[in-house]
Amino acid sequence: MSNRIDTTRLQEIARAYTASAVLYAALDVSLFTHVSNGCRTEAALADATGLRDVDINRLVSCSLSLELLDWEGEELCNAPDVEAYLVEGKERYAGPWMMFTRPDVAGWFQITEKMREADATKLGMYEELTVESARKYHQATASIGFGAARRFVRTVDLSDRQHLLDLGGGSGAYSITAVEAFSSLKATVLDLPPVVVATEEYIADAGVGDRVATVGADFTEGEFPSPVDVVVMASNLPIYDSEVIGGVVERAFRALVSGGEMHLIGEMLDDDRKGPVDAAMWGMNELVCGSEGRAHTRSECEGYFRSAGFVEVEVTDFVAGTLARCFGRKP
Ligand SMILES: C[S@@+](CC[C@H](N)C(=O)[O-])C[C@H]1O[C@@H](n2cnc3c(N)ncnc32)[C@H](O)[C@@H]1O
Repeated sequence: MSNRIDTTRLQEIARAYTASAVLYAALDVSLFTHVSNGCRTEAALADATGLRDVDINRLVSCSLSLELLDWEGEELCNAPDVEAYLVEGKERYAGPWMMFTRPDVAGWFQITEKMREADATKLGMYEELTVESARKYHQATASIGFGAARRFVRTVDLSDRQHLLDLGGGSGAYSITAVEAFSSLKATVLDLPPVVVATEEYIADAGVGDRVATVGADFTEGEFPSPVDVVVMASNLPIYDSEVIGGVVERAFRALVSGGEMHLIGEMLDDDRKGPVDAAMWGMNELVCGSEGRAHTRSECEGYFRSAGFVEVEVTDFVAGTLARCFGRKP
């Protein structure tokens, strides 16, 4: 193998923002939805979107190169993940989540200044949440969270459990899905006061109001509802530093009955911090959002659990390359 190096990889990183921009534009003009609905040629796509032929040509070339689109003979088709998650009206449509961080684009290009200013608060963007912004936020998280929650109930057997505490439960995806899957289970979603208004709406829609309750509170302080025999905290990890996460895990330990279990699901770095990239980037995202959060490694998470007193502590892949799950049992 040749040891010669060149600038290809560096150039790709320097212009990686172009891929995000193309994805946003394709979603803006419902490109993948049109393809799914039968617009399989560039002429048909130009008609359906009202865009000029040259722009469709550019967008299709980029989408083919990014493996978002493919050829089926002479006709265009969506890549399998695009067909599953980026076609409007489909059950698994995740467009709101893909667009969720678009408003942060300008902030990402100011991270040098932000590092120099170092102007952060404990809760970051969550300080300013309103009921309306929480509703919008959780429209995005729900478009991905319910899928993750289905994976959770397929992975973890809670059939002998009575009460799940869902810390930072947002749309209630984990709680709603868990009580639907396990008939003896009840759940409490603890989230910030404006958020639980939106949570209640998801609970009502799912018709599980008799089994899922909410508590409006800040999980960085105060004791948690108790006793419970399962605690889940999902997709909150990089928002906070070690002190806060360690404190949450300690208070979760106290809220659990003996034999109870905790699952911390989040973007965790490998111990050498060489990836996954997404985990590192969610840590950097906290600079953009103005909190003190950062990415945590798998062994740091195990450390929070062991220090709190958990046993059988173990981190496993939850969604390989993205999310890991740290488990611990209270003796
Ligand atoms: C990315 S969402 C994840 C929601 C849900 N766990 C899921 O996986 O779908 C993060 C959630 O954590 C909540 N959260 C963040 N900081 C919090 C705090 N200090 N106290 C309570 N909830 C908090 C947010 O309001 C938001 O609902």
